[in-house]
Amino acid sequence: MLILGGSASQPLAEKVAKELGQEAGQLEVKRFPDGEKYLRIHDNVKDQDVVAIQSLYRTPDENIFELLLLTDTLRDLGARSITAVIPYLAYARQDSRFYPGEAVSSASVARLLESAGTTSFFTIDCHLHRLGDVAKVFKIPAHNLTAMHELGKYAREHFKPRNPIVIGPDEEAEQWATVVAKELDSEHVAFRKVRVRKEGMTSSKVEVDAGDIELKGRDVVFADDIISTGGTIAEAANACKKGGAKRIFVVCTHPVLAEGALKRIKAAGVLKVIGTDTYPGPISKVTVAPVIAAALKS
Ligand code: R5P
Repeated sequence: MLILGGSASQPLAEKVAKELGQEAGQLEVKRFPDGEKYLRIHDNVKDQDVVAIQSLYRTPDENIFELLLLTDTLRDLGARSITAVIPYLAYARQDSRFYPGEAVSSASVARLLESAGTTSFFTIDCHLHRLGDVAKVFKIPAHNLTAMHELGKYAREHFKPRNPIVIGPDEEAEQWATVVAKELDSEHVAFRKVRVRKEGMTSSKVEVDAGDIELKGRDVVFADDIISTGGTIAEAANACKKGGAKRIFVVCTHPVLAEGALKRIKAAGVLKVIGTDTYPGPISKVTVAPVIAAALKS
């Protein structure tokens, strides 16, 4: 199996290869003066099973195009199978047509990857709100892995929470809270969230309901897939403070962190917030390399 990292995920690809006891392949990516990309694979890929890792963070359009170019080239050069690993799958949020004429971006991206020659697909903690499972978007075998075990271990070793309760800031996050709670040997619950998005807007306002969960004197660990504006976690943390929670920690898989998000979260009383390298940034303390390597091995 040959592991190749696109230019957005070379360090991660090297870590995955190391986990598998090998070295990553050599992919050269340069730019022509007009901005277009030049790509060259320095390994022999004929009849090889190739894994192309490319996360769609920060410059998703550029990253997806490079992955399509890479995949098409691998097919052209005779690779036997091409597994795309997209740790952060941008374009997943638009998984339905809410208003007439909108693109169903998740389906479009899946079709593009398939038509370029991808034969199987992995992503991590992908949140397809309406569809639930990436396997429903792709025709090729597609799997959604989770980083929550790794995040839970980090929380146990570094936060050392006392009398902890793991909370999913909304109902859909209960699946992640369950996994983190197992690592902390604690109970878990989910808050209820209402998101108000008006036609023509890409952002929305959230309201969180903590119900009558007993939080007094307890350490809270929030588990969520993504932090974007920080609005969800900030609202949820405010509710915990009102309920008498002691220390508040947050783990998330994809720390997108729009401008001001960290400040907003800290101002709401969160002590520490960490994420993974699916979306590299200042709080990406946990690597998903072991998660990807384990999936590729099985
Ligand atoms: C949505 O339901 C997700 O699980 C996250 O809670 C959400 O995307 C976080 O977004 P934000 O940080 O903008 O509230």
